[in-house]
Amino acid sequence: GAPVDVNIGKLSPGQMTTVAWRGKPVYVVHRTDRMLESLPEMDDRLRDPNSEVATQQPEFAANPYRAREENERFLVIVGLCTHLGCAPTYRPEVAPDDLGDDWQGGFFCPCHGSKFDISGRVYKGVPAPTNLEVPQYVYVTEEIIRVG
Ligand code: FES
Repeated sequence: GAPVDVNIGKLSPGQMTTVAWRGKPVYVVHRTDRMLESLPEMDDRLRDPNSEVATQQPEFAANPYRAREENERFLVIVGLCTHLGCAPTYRPEVAPDDLGDDWQGGFFCPCHGSKFDISGRVYKGVPAPTNLEVPQYVYVTEEIIRVG
């Protein structure tokens, strides 16, 4: 499949946009300071905090930000649950009642309740076995991400 360009210039902090790539939804999130600050505190709740399952991301994204070093603020992730492929919903707010006190914002799969943090890292004790996939991508300019 052909690469897809995403213009992130107008994406405000906290906003997400979705593009189609190879028939899959790809989520692009402009993370806020609070979201980035939450990442180092998540480890105890996560199954694979350091993204050691190598097939889940390119090498550059095997870190808590799961993003390219030149811009760790933006998350680029395949929006398909690693359990049975439903589309997780973006739930950026902290601890809404239905997600529990440990929720710091991220992605929630409505099919069987898998939870992922704001880097797409899977929580312990949910059906999804692995973190959400980070696709290969590059920055063409500061405002254009090329996925694929
Ligand atoms: Fe997401 Fe089952 S498909 S939890």
